[in-house]
Amino acid sequence: MNKECIVIASDHGGFEMKNSIKKELFALGYDVLDVGTNNTESVDYPDYANALADKIKSGHAKTGILICGTGIGISIAANRHAHIRAALVHDALSARLTRQHNDANVLVLGGRTTGIETAKDCLAVFLNTKFEGGRHAKRVAKLS
Ligand code: RB5
Repeated sequence: MNKECIVIASDHGGFEMKNSIKKELFALGYDVLDVGTNNTESVDYPDYANALADKIKSGHAKTGILICGTGIGISIAANRHAHIRAALVHDALSARLTRQHNDANVLVLGGRTTGIETAKDCLAVFLNTKFEGGRHAKRVAKLS
């Protein structure tokens, strides 16, 4: 069976966490499509949110991970795309509920605000939780 591909991107504020999360994704058995940034030089987070949104739109991946310093800017940028439901989370409960209730397709993390162990917990829960559908489906439909 082919491995599922996860697309990942960050700005400079999320670069270090992106490297750790990539390693975790490989350890969990996923393929990873990294669309940058590739070092700690200052860049503009909307460019990386847009690059990730393009990869999901073109079908290269169904699920994405975005990281900037706080996670805020890059989630605002990602959510300007109608096909993206990006959720900035700081704990595993939020990671679970945003899958179950919002069918979030992009997990957003703050590289400077969330510890790496908490981020890994959020990642595992996000990837292993299914959308509940039911009453949540009509609400999610109203988002786009
Ligand atoms: C970059 O310095 C920083 O503003 C960015 O990573 C992010 O926190 C924006 O929301």
